Amino acid sequence: MVNIRRARVEDLLEMQACNLACLPENYQLKYYFYHIFSWPQLLHVAEDSSKKIVGYVMAKMEEDASESHGHITSLAVLRSHRKLGLATRLMKAAEYDMVECFDAEYVSLHVRKSNRAAFHLYSETLGFQVHDIEKSYYADDEDAYDMRKDLRDHPRKKKNREAADQLASDVKNI
Ligand SMILES: CC(C)(COP(=O)(O)OP(=O)(O)OC[C@H]1O[C@@H](n2cnc3c(N)ncnc32)[C@H](O)[C@@H]1OP(=O)(O)O)[C@@H](O)C(=O)NCCC(=O)NCCS
Repeated sequence: MVNIRRARVEDLLEMQACNLACLPENYQLKYYFYHIFSWPQLLHVAEDSSKKIVGYVMAKMEEDASESHGHITSLAVLRSHRKLGLATRLMKAAEYDMVECFDAEYVSLHVRKSNRAAFHLYSETLGFQVHDIEKSYYADDEDAYDMRKDLRDHPRKKKNREAADQLASDVKNI
């Protein structure tokens, strides 16, 4: 059984190893630390029954824009554990916490035009749409799809709104 849980600082080396095994876009360890210290709610790992990390998602919030939105920095699942729904579960966990903890309006990401597996996951399974194409986005000159998913209808958002409305009405009636 594979469990999805929030990442801890002691997971970062294993997350980096997973990233190195899966993707050409790699980061220094300090970039993982930057994420976990800034947005600890937005890093999740997939952990197998022997406590090995077999996948991760690392995301952040972009606070500079007029709308608060999340951004998926990196997502990967080890080859041995693919097509089991783990990336879907990791992404849903990140989306949930973007809404729950940061009230995100939407989530964005970049994906290589040639990455059919990831494109299927984002567009078909998760409901992202292509927002733009960024020419030569990657170091090897490949174009990226800039993809976005609206989170305003996320079920957690509705519950938060209902709770806020209830609180407002309770306060009025005191
Ligand atoms: C992309 C990636 C994260 C998908 O992980 P995964 O755990 O296998 O994905 P899931 O099992 O959740 O599958 C989600 C959907 O994508 C589909 N899918 C997965 N791999 C696929 C492939 N190679 N080709 C076509 N579709 C694929 C699944 O069938 C599923 O579709 P469905 O919901 O219609 O049934 C994984 O292949 C990976 O780590 N790739 C290398 C790193 C990478 O590309 N990261 C993304 C960078 S933007």
